[in-house]
Amino acid sequence: MKCIAVVMAMASEASPILTQLGAQAIPAIPLLPFEFFEANRNGCRVIISVNGRDRRHGVDSIGTEAAALNTYFVADRYNPDLLITAGTAGGWMHQGAEIGDVFVSDQKFVHHDRRIAIPGLDEYGIGSYPAVPAAGLARALNLKLGVVTTSNSLDENDDDRRLIAANGGSVKEMEAAAVAYVCEMMAIPVMALKAITDLVDHHTATADQFNANLTMASRRLAEKLLQVIDFCAPRMVADLA
Ligand code: ADE
Repeated sequence: MKCIAVVMAMASEASPILTQLGAQAIPAIPLLPFEFFEANRNGCRVIISVNGRDRRHGVDSIGTEAAALNTYFVADRYNPDLLITAGTAGGWMHQGAEIGDVFVSDQKFVHHDRRIAIPGLDEYGIGSYPAVPAAGLARALNLKLGVVTTSNSLDENDDDRRLIAANGGSVKEMEAAAVAYVCEMMAIPVMALKAITDLVDHHTATADQFNANLTMASRRLAEKLLQVIDFCAPRMVADLA
């Protein structure tokens, strides 16, 4: 691969991998909050694009809108061989997930908060954008595989729970399906790498688990992301299956 792009939502998720890559800031897009960084890893160009701060609210631009726009700019500007949506996520104890596990996307990216009970539009709402086949990569790097499911809420309500179960979701986060939607349109292979900060079916509130585990999970993410980049750089996308 000549170029791998990594799209990330939060500054604290991105900080450890930027340090480990020795990535340098490169020019951003006027008016937009996205922050671009570049590194070179064994001859492969690595672009990291972070969603940046929301100007109105002064917080990281998490969620699907910023993720889609950021992905569009990265895809258009750098035409990467592979785009990775990297960050943190929730997992489920009853599926065996543990805090700090790092998952690779399996099969498809789905939305669990776009309920449109009209034939045809129901499936459009769920999305089901393809994830790059990466079972070989997961095996080689000892990563778990799971269907990534996206919404714009940190918590989970009964409707979310029903749709997540129906779609076989294992990794719950707030950007990946939007990233994959853009990547499918632009014919760019897409993979998610997500470190678990919280267990959705644990009695402790999700926000409390997230805050307690964000730093550790971001470190774990950086460690595995570096391994994923080094695994992918000398290979083609078809070699990840
Ligand atoms: N990011 C980290 N944990 C999450 C969760 N449980 N839901 C959505 N996004 C998350």
